[in-house]
Amino acid sequence: RATLWSVRTSRPFSHLNTVTTEDLAYFSKVLPPSNILSTLPPICTSHDDMVPYNVDWMGKYHGKANTILRPRTTHEVSEIVKHCASRQIGIVPQGGNTGLVGGSISLDKELVLNLGAMSRVRSFDPVSGILVADAGCILQSLSDHIAPHNHIMPLDLGAKGSCQIGGNISTNAGGLRLLRYGSLHGNVLGLEVVLPDGTILDQLSTLRKDNTGYDLKQLFIGSEGTLGIVTGVSILTPPAPQATNNVFLALPHFDNVLPLYQVVKRQLGEIMSAFEYMDRTAYDMALSHGLGPVLDAKEVGDSRCFVLIETSGSNEEHDLDKLNTLLESLMTADEPLILTGTLSQSPGQFESLWAVREGLTECVQKEGKPYKYDVSVPLADFQKVVDTVLERMVSMGLHGDHAVSKVMGYGHIGDGNLHLNVIAKRGYSSEIESALEPFIYELVASRKGSVSAEHGIGSMKTHALHYSKDSVNIEWMRKIKRVFDPLDIMNPGKVLS
Ligand code: FAD
Ligand code: MLT
Ligand code: ZN
Repeated sequence: RATLWSVRTSRPFSHLNTVTTEDLAYFSKVLPPSNILSTLPPICTSHDDMVPYNVDWMGKYHGKANTILRPRTTHEVSEIVKHCASRQIGIVPQGGNTGLVGGSISLDKELVLNLGAMSRVRSFDPVSGILVADAGCILQSLSDHIAPHNHIMPLDLGAKGSCQIGGNISTNAGGLRLLRYGSLHGNVLGLEVVLPDGTILDQLSTLRKDNTGYDLKQLFIGSEGTLGIVTGVSILTPPAPQATNNVFLALPHFDNVLPLYQVVKRQLGEIMSAFEYMDRTAYDMALSHGLGPVLDAKEVGDSRCFVLIETSGSNEEHDLDKLNTLLESLMTADEPLILTGTLSQSPGQFESLWAVREGLTECVQKEGKPYKYDVSVPLADFQKVVDTVLERMVSMGLHGDHAVSKVMGYGHIGDGNLHLNVIAKRGYSSEIESALEPFIYELVASRKGSVSAEHGIGSMKTHALHYSKDSVNIEWMRKIKRVFDPLDIMNPGKVLS
């Protein structure tokens, strides 16, 4: 099926060369095979073995790389990049390949440089909480590494079992803890980056304060592999909270969500660590895939929205007191904002409440082919945006199992980030895509929102960047790209088209 997406990305990169047998001979000198049998080979050119590196997590973007390289050291990355620069070969840096915007997939003949074999923790200081690690470390494995020291990673996301810290930094991933610990722009203390000419930029600082001119590392956070390859990371990890609790609440309609958010912020104060949202369609979908039920179906009645609130503090009794007082005031109010709710009573229940929210991405994937719009809009517009898109699908005769089976919203209320998901039951089609785009981007722009809150631009949204960035911004982004990567070999066609 010819989708608009495939048309957009099928343009060949005439300035780039394909990997040849001579190039492969050079790469095999730089990347000798390991003598450990269980280790994946550092060079892969077999069609079947390349499949996992050539298809994204959603199965939406199909890459064209004929070579996958898996270096083990920063020096090896640097040697590969120097060679690619001299031969003008394109490079797609790839982490866990869980990105949702087609950023980690080769669009034409670029090779894929996967960081998975660089997975060493370099150091951890339990006093400062500063962790220094290879970029290819999986987020979950870093959490496991620091857990015995009572520290946690400052970010958490549903893809934690596969995504890598280098990928998280390159996408400036948000996730479920941003409300409490802030973005990676604040938590990353230093980076080691191989620049597009192969030079190693060593900024792997472990200093909290360092005002010595331009803070170059910030440019690599969220630049999606277009300015260089992140090989090492220094990141501040917070102490693990001593007490965590969560509640799951059902609300009659969206109008109550923001008043509830205000009340909760006021009453829970410093212990509130997450305020997540999902609409009824998302909740029902989660249940139909075996998550939950977390609430009594009769009490839920025809609730239209649900929120999950988490608290993280240092004193269980104090936090529970605050939570119980909050719940009591919510249930006994003259005009209650909520219909029902539940407070987790055990670590197992705590996990199952979170599972309903964290599991939505996988449920969406099982439902069909998702069009995912990760947008920032004013909180008051969350429901309106979802309703407007649903109405459009209905009015165009595209709603139903023949085309779009579900339109739903969920996301991070605390961050103003709505995940609008449109599920194409029978697969992606140009008819559905042209009904959604540029309509959704125009809708977001009309509310002064962002077309990408946390997933990035990748190859999916290069044509939509101008809805959120004006021409002056885009021109300066282009200038920065040219300074770092004048040959345009580093993840070409991503972020900037
Ligand atoms: P990849 O997908 O491999 O790459 C992503 C981009 O970063 C590409 O452009 C790639 O070229 C570049 N890149 C990767 N590694 C490097 C490197 N070392 N150096 C330079 N560039 C590099 N995202 C959120 O923000 N919040 C969420 O809550 C969230 N939840 C998710 C839940 C699920 C189930 C899934 C599947 C995805 C979710 N995502 C979320 C999206 C995704 O997980 C994040 O974008 C993640 O940070 C990507 O990491 P990765 O290692 O998989 O990177
Ligand atoms: C989430 O918040 O669940 C993630 O960003 C992934 C998604 O949008 O599905
Ligand atoms: Zn998200």
